[in-house]
Amino acid sequence: MTDQAQTAPAAKKLFIKTYGCQMNVYDSQRMAEAMGAEGYVLTEDQAQADMVLLNTCHIREKAAEKLYSDLGRLRSLKVAKPDMKIGVAGCVAQAEGAEITRRMPQVDLVVGPQSYHRLPAMARGEGPSIDTDFPAEDKFDHLPERMATRRAPAAFLTVQEGCDKFCAFCVVPYTRGAEVSRPVDRILSEARNLVARGVRELTLLGQNVNGWHGVGPDGREWGFGRLIRAIAEIDGLDRIRYTTSHPNDMADDLIAAHGDVPQLMPYLHLPVQSGSDRILKAMNRKHTAEQYLRLIDRIRAARPDILMTSDFIVGFPGETDQDHAATLRLVEQVGFGTAFSFKYSPRPGTTAYDRPEVEAAVADARLHELQALLGRQQQAVQQDMVGRTLGVLFEKPGRETGQMIGKSDYLHPVFVDAPQAQPGDLVQVRIVESRSNSLRGELLT
Ligand code: SAH
Ligand code: SF4
Ligand code: F3S
Repeated sequence: MTDQAQTAPAAKKLFIKTYGCQMNVYDSQRMAEAMGAEGYVLTEDQAQADMVLLNTCHIREKAAEKLYSDLGRLRSLKVAKPDMKIGVAGCVAQAEGAEITRRMPQVDLVVGPQSYHRLPAMARGEGPSIDTDFPAEDKFDHLPERMATRRAPAAFLTVQEGCDKFCAFCVVPYTRGAEVSRPVDRILSEARNLVARGVRELTLLGQNVNGWHGVGPDGREWGFGRLIRAIAEIDGLDRIRYTTSHPNDMADDLIAAHGDVPQLMPYLHLPVQSGSDRILKAMNRKHTAEQYLRLIDRIRAARPDILMTSDFIVGFPGETDQDHAATLRLVEQVGFGTAFSFKYSPRPGTTAYDRPEVEAAVADARLHELQALLGRQQQAVQQDMVGRTLGVLFEKPGRETGQMIGKSDYLHPVFVDAPQAQPGDLVQVRIVESRSNSLRGELLT
């Protein structure tokens, strides 16, 4: 640390673009903090940057291609400004490594999601310019303590990384590596630190967040539900959320926590991918549609008002009209608050990669049909909120004067006229209108 402070150059500007999931958002913050210790300050203006860092996603082909189109555009900037460094981080960096610099020689650094604690040294020109190791050391032990880069009342905290589940379509086990849970004491100290800096809502992150496990200060093996209970004891922390969870890791204690931990918000993202047992099996999801439905019954028994969301893939290899109908049936049965749905994208290295694809037009039509149904459910759920009084945590001012934007307990964005309010205020709001992707509310006085 001290050496870094001594050698820190005058303020240089860092521009970071983040693609993909919330874990990448978290990683970008940590990389910004690590580079901050090197004298870099963040800029929103790419043209001003001494270093441009692209934190990438490999989940679908389109996501990965975006990197190359962005790099293409950066080429002319680099010609005009040859000292500017270009770094590629994240899941494409992990998956493609040296292929990136081969295709795009203007790239100076490539750093994978498990080795970004080495980014500062790489930026100084020490060590390799491509680092996609899964190092034995824990990157979090080599990163500076969390800093308040921007005052925000809601923050992410990674508690678990990687995945051992190997769903047939998914690159995450390859890009993020094996499942690793961070130790309890590190998680609790990071959480306390964030709360001490004004954070009132924490979203615990992991690719299989509810698979988290560790040894508690009591010497016992803790599961994720126990961790949530410990985090809920932090004074000043009002809300806890977590994402993304796997249906097979919804332990009894975690389900019970939804009933008896008041800080745990009534919202759960639980990807199911398909409603067809045949397709679930081909996807290697290791549960049936019926098991998923019964699981939701148990979660709703613990917390009746919980809002469920999910992820779906349509057009997985071998998916028939009957399989698709089973997915629509499952959606009808559950009633989701919202959900993400994607057309299957074959990913190199995954087991489904070489399987014969569903015709594109058929997959498009199915996606359209599923999204229409999910859209109707979303509107119905939002309409149901009208007239209710909900907690809203204000995050930032809205576009109109005196307006604030916050999230409801159910994670809906809510616009409220509140000229006296500050980000970080947790207020009671009466919902008066449902818009396409948000709600409008009035302060209860
Ligand atoms: N860990 C989470 C999901 C991580 S990826 C889970 O187990 O559900 C986020 C979502 O991207 C997945 O839920 C899936 O719906 C989608 N996805 C992943 N790979 C995909 C692929 N090859 N094609 C289309 N969608 C994909
Ligand atoms: Fe990917 Fe499946 Fe792991 Fe989720 S559980 S990250 S979909 S392999
Ligand atoms: Fe994408 Fe990597 Fe997240 S592939 S979805 S950025 S874990």
